[in-house]
Amino acid sequence: MQLFKRVDQLQAFLNAERVNNRSVGFIPTMGALHAGHLTLVKRSLAENQITVASIFVNPTQFNEANDLDRYPRTPGKDLQALAKVGCNVAFLPEVDDVYPPGLDTRLQIDLSGLDARMEGAQRPGHFDGVAQVVKRFLDIIQPENLYMGQKDYQQQLIIKQMVRVLDLPYRVITVPTVREEDGLALSSRNVLLDPEIRQRSVILYQTLLEAKKRLIKGELPKDIETWAMEALSQPGFRPEYFSIVDGHSLQPLPDQEELAELIVACTAVWAGEVRLIDNLPLRGNL
Ligand code: PAF
Repeated sequence: MQLFKRVDQLQAFLNAERVNNRSVGFIPTMGALHAGHLTLVKRSLAENQITVASIFVNPTQFNEANDLDRYPRTPGKDLQALAKVGCNVAFLPEVDDVYPPGLDTRLQIDLSGLDARMEGAQRPGHFDGVAQVVKRFLDIIQPENLYMGQKDYQQQLIIKQMVRVLDLPYRVITVPTVREEDGLALSSRNVLLDPEIRQRSVILYQTLLEAKKRLIKGELPKDIETWAMEALSQPGFRPEYFSIVDGHSLQPLPDQEELAELIVACTAVWAGEVRLIDNLPLRGNL
């Protein structure tokens, strides 16, 4: 595996590969890699000749300094894991390489309200930072394919919207969430969970599954949301939202929810000191 820390060095390498018409797949990450990230890498390896994974804890998407400081950083282990699955290139730039002083990388694009609710409402400015860094990496790497995890449902939809609005020539591929045996969605933040809280964190997935059953039985989305917020309010847990939305627009469902062909439940819950998010399509497929 090749390791690059500088933009110009990575670009020189990729330019040489492109002379041979080799296709490039890209996986942006903030490190602390787990099996979910490695699934994206493996998918890219199967579909491209060169796979690039970046590890960069992006400061512009954190709205709390404490969250940025606490974000787990395990670059040594990450590089080993990437090499083990056969990733071709790891890109670990410094902040100044991603955001060179004097270069305006901010984006002003119409996200069609996709950033207004759920994570966007709870973490103001978060998606501006995500779109900014992903666009910057796309400009640098210019991959054919970009791989995003379904676990961050709103994020992958916003990146697809960004690609559409800016008419960028990249395909965005969403890869299903990988779960622990008990159903907890893999996340870099899981390592921060208190062991006793970790045991009970399966409540997120169980609540999503039960919401699906209730929707199928004909319960109204509003009533399911109310039930879910109560179900998630266990000792040590504090739900921020449980929203059942149209899977394309992220808008709440109208009363005639049978009109929606893709319905997704998304939730964010504080599990002790750690904020977890998860989602489940309740009807239809991505
Ligand atoms: O999902 C993440 O880890 C980050 O938001 C991303 C896409 C790598 C951008 O920093």
